[in-house]
Amino acid sequence: MTTSSPVPPVAPERLPELLRAMPKAELHIHIEGSLEPALIFALAQRNRVNLPYADIPSLRRAYAFTHLQSFLDIYYAGASVLITAQDFYDMAWAYLQRAQADHVVHCELFFDPQTHTARGVALRTVIEGLYRACLDAREKLGISAALILCFLRHLSEQDAFATLEQALPYRDRFIGVGLDSSEVGHPPEKFARVFARCRELGLHVVAHAGEEGPPEYIWAALDWLKAERIDHGVQSTKDPALMARLARERIPLTVCPLSNLKLCVFPRLSAHNLRALLEAGLVATVNSDDPAYFGGYINDNFVQSFGALGLDAGHAWQLALNSFEASFIDASAKARYRDALGECFARFG
Ligand code: HPA
Ligand code: ZN
Repeated sequence: MTTSSPVPPVAPERLPELLRAMPKAELHIHIEGSLEPALIFALAQRNRVNLPYADIPSLRRAYAFTHLQSFLDIYYAGASVLITAQDFYDMAWAYLQRAQADHVVHCELFFDPQTHTARGVALRTVIEGLYRACLDAREKLGISAALILCFLRHLSEQDAFATLEQALPYRDRFIGVGLDSSEVGHPPEKFARVFARCRELGLHVVAHAGEEGPPEYIWAALDWLKAERIDHGVQSTKDPALMARLARERIPLTVCPLSNLKLCVFPRLSAHNLRALLEAGLVATVNSDDPAYFGGYINDNFVQSFGALGLDAGHAWQLALNSFEASFIDASAKARYRDALGECFARFG
């Protein structure tokens, strides 16, 4: 075993190239948030769904968000064009091809069943299309992809239980559950019992917390839901005791810098706390959240935040390594990806 750093000195002008080339895992991507305007219009036409926007430029003009809810309203409207299993497949396949181009080697995809079942689309249809795309990703793109079913926190726990019940026939097609949608006013403890049931079923458990909500919501996600990862979690820097716990317990945060910028969580990318999270020893990762809405896929998140925050190759190494540590793949796959990361960095030495 060598004690020398695996990170060679990398000239600043080569850093974007390294960020793009390095193998990475994406752990916070809402597959409905990868629906690009062109695909929204194509699916609307295919399924004869009326959209309240005349064309792609007018839809894009609506992507001027002020906070989470202003985004969610448009995000749920966009998802209304998804009707058949083929639609879900096409959406996921487009993302997976894009992810491969960004050297994502493993991804864990959130999906929002209640957004679709509420419109009369069967959960079977949703899972069938998404799961087929995950299988094809392995076979045709050489990347592993797994599904995480998210409960919408603005709905009731009873509704979440009903969704879980409907999903049980497809238990082997998703690896975990998450919690998303409108955060403030819907604290994690609202879902304590349904998450306990999910843990009994052997599902992994993650939750959005501390995106707009206070540090108390992150404590609650850990204590009530036993969340294994926190999605966003950027409000944790307001609470030193929480930061110490996240570092000590190695609870990963799936950070999404461009999302935080577009939803005005930070006023400028240069004010983002990604560097502070890393320097406090947290297992922070970089992800895209809803790339079609927030102006960039995972590599855009890396390149733009590194530029704004003056991060270097050492941070890149740590973030990529963290993405594998934080993922729900087995230890041998983690070791393989770590080796691939080392090989990539050695090429830049
Ligand atoms: N936060 C909460 N819910 C979401 C998000 C998000 O960033 N994206 C899609 N659903
Ligand atoms: Zn999210």
